[in-house]
Amino acid sequence: MVKKLEARGHQTTLLDPDVLDLPLLKKPLHFYKDRSQAPKVLQETNQAIVDADAFVIISAEYNHCMPPALTNMMDHFPIASYKYRPSGIVCYSMGSFGGVRAAMQCRMLLGELATPSVGPLLQFPRSTRLSRRLGSL
Ligand SMILES: Cc1cc2nc3c(=O)[nH]c(=O)nc-3n(C[C@H](O)[C@H](O)[C@H](O)COP(=O)(O)O)c2cc1C
Repeated sequence: MVKKLEARGHQTTLLDPDVLDLPLLKKPLHFYKDRSQAPKVLQETNQAIVDADAFVIISAEYNHCMPPALTNMMDHFPIASYKYRPSGIVCYSMGSFGGVRAAMQCRMLLGELATPSVGPLLQFPRSTRLSRRLGSL
């Protein structure tokens, strides 16, 4: 997705829960009275969210839901940081539905974060086989 978006002239910032490695949510950024006292990773990631013109959420599907690592990351930041910019959803899964059930959950979450998602989904079913094929590119 990063490559595709950049090929279209967009600047991208990838926020990957596996890379950010935030703890299990105990204290989101907006629960700090003085945000300058929050961990640097929260402050910097929040700034990236605030600076974005739009969001593309890329979600796998775990037990027909969004992976908890993804919601854990997103929940660390306030609605005010996401609000009033559009979002799109890309989903993938091992099964034949391509993660659409997780995508429907994601749509609800994005509504609550005031970054409503646009209609079409980009879905990749059988992602394990797909990633094997893409790996050879
Ligand atoms: C806990 C767990 C639950 C899963 N549930 C589903 C599921 O409901 N539907 C599906 O198609 N694949 C399911 N899968 C398979 C994932 O779609 C597949 O492993 C995918 O590649 C995970 O992506 P990730 O490695 O980026 O997290 C599940 C995998 C895990 C680990």
